[in-house]
Amino acid sequence: MYLGSDALALAPFTNLIAYLEEGDWVVLNRKGASFYDKANQPVQRRAQRVAAGAFLVEKGNHRHFMAKEIYEQPEVVGHTLTQYLDMAAGRVRLPFEGKIDWASLSRLSVSACGTAYYAGLTAKYWFEKLARLPVEIDVASEFRYREAPLPENGLALFVSQSGETADTLACLRYARQEQQTVLSVVNVPTSTIARESDAVAPTMAGPEIGVASTKAFTCQLTALACLALAAARGRGTLSAEQEARHVQSLIALPGLMAKALALEPEIERLARELSKARDVLYLGRGTSYPLALEGALKLKEISYIHAEGYPAGELKHGPIALIDEQMPVIVVAPHDGLFEKTASNMQEVAARGGRIILITDAKGAAECGIEPETTIIMPDMDPAFAAIVYALPIQMIAYQTAVFMGKDVDQPRNLAKSVTVE
Ligand code: M6R
Repeated sequence: MYLGSDALALAPFTNLIAYLEEGDWVVLNRKGASFYDKANQPVQRRAQRVAAGAFLVEKGNHRHFMAKEIYEQPEVVGHTLTQYLDMAAGRVRLPFEGKIDWASLSRLSVSACGTAYYAGLTAKYWFEKLARLPVEIDVASEFRYREAPLPENGLALFVSQSGETADTLACLRYARQEQQTVLSVVNVPTSTIARESDAVAPTMAGPEIGVASTKAFTCQLTALACLALAAARGRGTLSAEQEARHVQSLIALPGLMAKALALEPEIERLARELSKARDVLYLGRGTSYPLALEGALKLKEISYIHAEGYPAGELKHGPIALIDEQMPVIVVAPHDGLFEKTASNMQEVAARGGRIILITDAKGAAECGIEPETTIIMPDMDPAFAAIVYALPIQMIAYQTAVFMGKDVDQPRNLAKSVTVE
């Protein structure tokens, strides 16, 4: 008998798992487990068999789980899409179709932690632009204590890989207490967050072992993009042709991701340079802004290099003071409607001697108006969901830098995979 905070942690020992409810306690001995509820009354908690081998994960030919998980992304994003798309009809088809009345919503409240929060922040752009649905988003550790007023019959969305994050779970319970419908995007279907939700939007990332989240992030983005399209259809802000076009863009994602992975040799060269930096600044606008935050988090957590993500337009309000010849500035800028604005921010950095690393496409590289120290040229794609593909170079930069520095990328210091305490 074993006790653990996440089914994944128990995978090497058993595939028979019983979940405790809030306030439960348990006595374990060699023969079995006796469960008690918060009133100290004996209760039954049914053990469920987890699919054989679901959690027994090997590194395969990869040096680290993180590398394996980065490379799995075309496949797992493809699997996630199959849950949400009717590819033949060119339509979104949600696994919980009919449970949410998108048209009646006045607002969507989102909360999550870390990388899952950045996925939610990206989705805010999608829900607001495509579905004209106002989104309020907060990190779960703040949301849970600020007693936010929530709209009557509102929808609260939670994003979590593990489905066990304590702060996110506390927000979910607050939302439920406030009579919100609870929708969660989760990777572990038997997790507490999934079990306590009215509707679950699954991600099909499979077990994620590396502490730094990679494939779970892009699967969350994929699921959220589909939810935003479903909301848009439900609210009448998207025509059938527009929906079909977006669905085609989503179907193209796995192929584009495979092309992005082929950029690894260039990223490896860049990582050698970055490993000498003390600080790194990431910039982006629109959906590239959450990616800038995610890039900085990834680099911090596995290489221990200090990094900051900023909306490119905020540069002149403070961080530009940091720019000098030592400071690498990674700019995430697909050639989208905001490119020109980001290019002008890049020129401001260049004028101050900043070392620019530009992640863009061929058009962006041709029109940026400066000569970056390094340009990573991504394949051409529909800018609407480009963030899902641009996440890959961001992850590879952090991974290669940390590997070059000899860090333990799968288990960085001071971090746990599931944060089940406050
Ligand atoms: O399991 P969750 O998605 O709820 O976890 C949230 C964060 O703890 C997690 O994303 C964390 O920020 C990762 N270490 C980021 O790589």
